[in-house]
Amino acid sequence: MSLAIQIRQNGGPEELQLVEVQVGDPAAGEIRVRHHAIGLNYIDVYQRTGLYPFPMPLQLGMEAAGVVEAVGEGVTHLKVGDRVAYASNPPGSYSTERVMPARCVCRLPDAIGFETGAAMMLKGLTAQYLLKKTLPVQGLQRGDAVLFHAAAGGVGLIACQWARALGLELIATAGSDAKCQLALANGAAHAINYSTEDFAARVKEITQGQGVKVVYDSVGKDTWEKSLDCLRPFGLMASFGNASGPVPPFAPASLGGRGSLYVTRQTLFTHISTRESTQAMADELFAVVESGQVKIHIAQRYALADVQQAHRDLEARKTTGSTILTVD
Ligand SMILES: NC(=O)c1ccc[n+]([C@@H]2O[C@H](COP(=O)([O-])OP(=O)(O)OC[C@H]3O[C@@H](n4cnc5c(N)ncnc54)[C@H](OP(=O)(O)O)[C@@H]3O)[C@@H](O)[C@H]2O)c1
Repeated sequence: MSLAIQIRQNGGPEELQLVEVQVGDPAAGEIRVRHHAIGLNYIDVYQRTGLYPFPMPLQLGMEAAGVVEAVGEGVTHLKVGDRVAYASNPPGSYSTERVMPARCVCRLPDAIGFETGAAMMLKGLTAQYLLKKTLPVQGLQRGDAVLFHAAAGGVGLIACQWARALGLELIATAGSDAKCQLALANGAAHAINYSTEDFAARVKEITQGQGVKVVYDSVGKDTWEKSLDCLRPFGLMASFGNASGPVPPFAPASLGGRGSLYVTRQTLFTHISTRESTQAMADELFAVVESGQVKIHIAQRYALADVQQAHRDLEARKTTGSTILTVD
């Protein structure tokens, strides 16, 4: 038996209920894993509210770290007893134990603890593909300016540090002065409090009228329009989330007038669709974390049973960095 958090219908945090579920043996291509720590992500909110629909009942959670307890037929990269971490579909990591596809599960280097593993896989692999694989036409070179919204959050703090390691001039936005300070302390070159400042005007000022090569926008509805105004000609709008609500339909012609802009909507799950690509991305993530260039900030911890409060705090913009759910 496993303890797990399920929802029976879409709705608020009160729908998150602790239940006992049966956990069987892994089928071909699967493993059974016992979790030591679980990662909280904004995508869990979208799945809870129904913005990203799933059949019910739904066991939430896309990220965790733990130990392999059983291995199904055909799984060759993992064995019983391995310390592992993952970001993976289908949801289900809000649990003490689960059976899941082995494809996206990676062995955790000895130097990386379970809590760090659970706090960094989904967010860190996202930062990896955004900065290394989601490139404007001219590519990204050292010294290039990029804009990163919600930079003091889970993905954000990792991206700030990784961008500094890559020599990028990352302009951060965040919703309070304290969060701006945090982004600066983690490698952002500039920080804008977008609750009180016109971020498009400030970006133009910082870049001396040029604009940035890429905007990384996970805020969505509230930042979309002004973000387009921050781009230089041929710049790339990389939309990857909707914390303030989904981006409304827009006229492609508006991209022409702003300088032949590119727009992409990215999701991690395309990037980690194969074992090989997942492992290659994870190896890069493990390397920057082990080198100390990227530190994983676990700023909040909640017991699995207190997940309702964790969701409330995340949605109320009270969290910074990564949040984990503990199971011990
Ligand atoms: N597509 C992908 O592959 C992918 C993968 C991972 C994450 N994501 C997206 O990236 C974003 C960051 O994920 P995360 O888990 O690290 O979360 P997070 O950044 O720790 O938390 C979300 C942050 O969004 C900001 N925000 C702005 N407007 C908001 C609003 N109206 N309501 C709530 N928050 C608002 C808040 O920061 P401020 O107070 O500073 O504004 C908040 O702290 C999310 O949108 C997530 O869905 C996408």
